Amino acid sequence: MKHETIEKNTGLMGVLIALVISVAGFAEIVPLMFQAQTTQPMEGIEPFPALQLAGRDVYVKEGCYNCHSQMVRPFVSESLRYGPPVEAGETVYGRPFQWGSKRTGPDLARVGGRYTDEWHLAHLINPRDLVPESNMPGYPWLLDKYVDGELVERKMRTLKWLGHPYSDAQIDEAASVTEGASEMEALIAYLQYLGLANNGRRQQ
Ligand code: HEC
Repeated sequence: MKHETIEKNTGLMGVLIALVISVAGFAEIVPLMFQAQTTQPMEGIEPFPALQLAGRDVYVKEGCYNCHSQMVRPFVSESLRYGPPVEAGETVYGRPFQWGSKRTGPDLARVGGRYTDEWHLAHLINPRDLVPESNMPGYPWLLDKYVDGELVERKMRTLKWLGHPYSDAQIDEAASVTEGASEMEALIAYLQYLGLANNGRRQQ
């Protein structure tokens, strides 16, 4: 009888379905928010240095995540190509995280150190100069745009307030370290930094 009432009342059924799904969802998600494995940085993982942080913003601004993931999944084929799977503790300083889900281009989670700075520079100006069949757009204008050092300093202060362990010295020198750098330089510094703390594990 009671079941019939629910079946005949679409509104009530909708509310109850939402309730059941939320409870199940919370049961899966909430514990993850408190597990050290997912919320604490892995050994050797530190917040992005000033120039790399600025480069990360260029990456986000230019929408690189629309074609590139930063999430090596736990499959042999992925590990052979990109290195060990990405773990949550590696990306705790990613605000917002850049895991992505679209792979028009290769995963970039561990691209740091794979190419030289010169390679990246030429590739970012015109990818087809190096990879003739590439459909990645060029970003030559990044050479003519400059990082706002003071803004980087303010961002680092905010991130520290949110819990990133920046030292006062790092924050104080942020503006002078980044001032005058082109967005291209910052972006390359960011790419070269990606996965570096964990690239050693590739050998395993
Ligand atoms: C329209 C999709 C698209 C966008 C947007 C895009 N890429 Fe790519 N990217 C590709 C493709 C496809 C390749 C593989 C061919 C090549 O190397 O050019 C690639 C390759 C790369 C590589 C070499 C990776 C490797 O392991 O060989 C890097 C580094 C890279 N992209 C960085 C970037 C950055 C940084 C941005 C944003 C400024 C960006 N890409 C935007 C599609 C894209």
